[in-house]
Amino acid sequence: MIRKIFILLFLATGFLTARAQEVSISKGWKFTVGDSAQWASPTYNDQHWQAANLNDNWERQGHPNYDGFGWYRTKVVIPSSLKDKSYLKDSLRLNLGTVDDNDEVYLNGKLVAKYGGYGGTIKDGHYGGRSYTIAANNPAILWDKENVLAVRIFDTGGDGGLVTSGYGSTFNITMADVMDHVAVNTEADFVYGDNNSLSKSVKLHTTNAYQYSGTLAFKVTDPENGTVLYEKTNPANFTSGKPFTYSFSIARLAKRSYTISYTFTDTKSGKSIVQTETTPYILTPYPTAKVKINGADVFGARPGHPFLYLIPATGKRPLLYKVAGLPECLKVDAATGVISGSVAQKGNYPVTFTVSNSLGAKTKQFTISIGDNIGLTPALGWNSWNAWGLSVNDEKVRISAKAMIDKLSAHGWAYINIDDGWEAENRAADGKIVTNSKFPDMKGLADFVHGLGLRIGIYSSPGPRTCGGFLGSWQHEDQDAQTYADWGIDYLKYDWCSYSDIAPKPDLDGLKKPYQVMQASLGKTNRDIMYSLCQYGWGNVWEWGADVNGNSWRTTGDIQDTWQSMSTIGFNQGPAAPHAQPGHFNDPDMLVVGKVGWGPSLHNTRLTFDEQYTHISLWSLLASPLLIGCDMGHLDAFTLSLLTNDEVLAIDQDALGKGANQYIKKDDYQVWVKELKDGGKAIGLFNTSDKYQTISLDKTDPAIAGYTKFRDAWQQKYIVVTGNALTAKVAPHGVLLVRVEK
Ligand code: GAL
Repeated sequence: MIRKIFILLFLATGFLTARAQEVSISKGWKFTVGDSAQWASPTYNDQHWQAANLNDNWERQGHPNYDGFGWYRTKVVIPSSLKDKSYLKDSLRLNLGTVDDNDEVYLNGKLVAKYGGYGGTIKDGHYGGRSYTIAANNPAILWDKENVLAVRIFDTGGDGGLVTSGYGSTFNITMADVMDHVAVNTEADFVYGDNNSLSKSVKLHTTNAYQYSGTLAFKVTDPENGTVLYEKTNPANFTSGKPFTYSFSIARLAKRSYTISYTFTDTKSGKSIVQTETTPYILTPYPTAKVKINGADVFGARPGHPFLYLIPATGKRPLLYKVAGLPECLKVDAATGVISGSVAQKGNYPVTFTVSNSLGAKTKQFTISIGDNIGLTPALGWNSWNAWGLSVNDEKVRISAKAMIDKLSAHGWAYINIDDGWEAENRAADGKIVTNSKFPDMKGLADFVHGLGLRIGIYSSPGPRTCGGFLGSWQHEDQDAQTYADWGIDYLKYDWCSYSDIAPKPDLDGLKKPYQVMQASLGKTNRDIMYSLCQYGWGNVWEWGADVNGNSWRTTGDIQDTWQSMSTIGFNQGPAAPHAQPGHFNDPDMLVVGKVGWGPSLHNTRLTFDEQYTHISLWSLLASPLLIGCDMGHLDAFTLSLLTNDEVLAIDQDALGKGANQYIKKDDYQVWVKELKDGGKAIGLFNTSDKYQTISLDKTDPAIAGYTKFRDAWQQKYIVVTGNALTAKVAPHGVLLVRVEK
């Protein structure tokens, strides 16, 4: 059985850490906001400082909206036995969880590490995990004595402090050991070969000056029952600069994930590391050669403003597009399907799309809604942040636009949004906002994106500075809105950031104010600029985001590519969900699928493949804007399949605009139910546990009573429901997304 399922074609194999001796530093921290050089000193008396809760930022520990300097201190005895028991005895490692945003680390008054290992200054703001290595003979270390560890932090905006998070949750001191700086790099894509094979190459590598010689054990396990499906151990040798590559090919017979583990054991030291990953499986059917018209059923624009809509359709190219009933002053490009022009008169214009190719034609009824309300269905697009962070540039944006038109726009994806990092250091002499050298010609870039039939977005803050420290729009709102309009911008993400300097302790009106100011400024331009509020959910923004005319509003802090982050955010949208409505949607933050990185170097999302199905299913049920946060120049087959499932996207884009109701919330599973325009419902059965689980909904349950057809949205096929219940075996952290029809 095992042998039949997995065929090994080649031999030769992610990151892991050996369990070393450690001294915990997860307790006993004290902190204060402010800044003083004395706070580094071991003799400073910090008794009056607050006890720190590392599970929370300092905003939630009595310093709302505080940006700037703060210090954390703790005391720790570092036993020399730590060194004695280690194999390599040369370096000590300080694991300091996550720092938001940037830090300097002092041991007994001496600076031993800084800025997360990046260059720059403490104000450059690289929030993230902190793990510093210092020489064991550094005189700052007092072996077998009490050491005072002090961390000076600068928070540029948003949350701040020393915290446990997905970026880094370990607070301890260890010796850097033989398996530190050894990694199994699993970043390469899985390759879907002929004969139903799934292949991949992984690399064992190190930066240590040590000769690794041992074995690599490759093991594939079924997570449902622990059955080992394949096991193979090979010799593996590698040194710095000379990695060991292991390639394998296994059969992909079932539509489910298996767990792969790679265990390297070094013979001399006897130490090992283990890295695990899961195998991808694609549920989305491959688009057929026949025409299919996809996307929402409605698009809104304001009267007299430029109109741009690309009819999303799949099928063998070339396609020919026609629209019947198009209001005057709009025209459709028969070859590209781009509708452009402008409509002066308010009203709902029913039109019929016809798209044809050599195999036939399809039609679809569609409504062009000209009025004050735009963004009638959640935005589908890309945003640069989760991929590139502040390293975004013109070229990356163009690559993304090109990829969107080549691979995604046929499914309704339309926005290319530049996040933070495009702004110059200073405004022009006349106060006008200007771009930095990474964006030599913003108007040219917008023209390029529009030329493809797509729309373009930009980012700013109501404060003087953005979260990345760039120029914000404070006191330049009219001017900035007009500049955006002149460039041809279609979407603005407006991020609170340093507005706390202007309004340190805002009440509800104070929270609304900066968003009203920019809304008024946008309203003075002649463009439809989608308005995306970003203030992390403060003041229950879902209750008033629509009043300030936000097309969407962030309901949370920043997402990360971990189950903890994605599931905590997603499954806590219950209170916000009922406030979604056409033109006004909750935004639980951007997608973390594909290759992400928040900076120049990217990695595969740390979500498992089942977690990614959960992510897209839940966000679609929530009618969330879907903003892809990955490298669009490198969309692997699985990620593409996740983003091009028209029946799943249709749930997100449903014209009723409702957010799903958190219908059942148990410790190990949840059921979310979204009402749809056609009277049907979309239902997500989510397994939140880490074991396979059967989830059932009785046919008499009010969620599905009276419905007779059950369609698996991912697989796009009807499910035969026998017996008295809709029952599904759901993978760990996975989902069954069903559309029910009468
Ligand atoms: C954060 C925001 C992120 C990103 C970043 C840019 O406040 O939540 O999504 O926009 O700022 O600096």
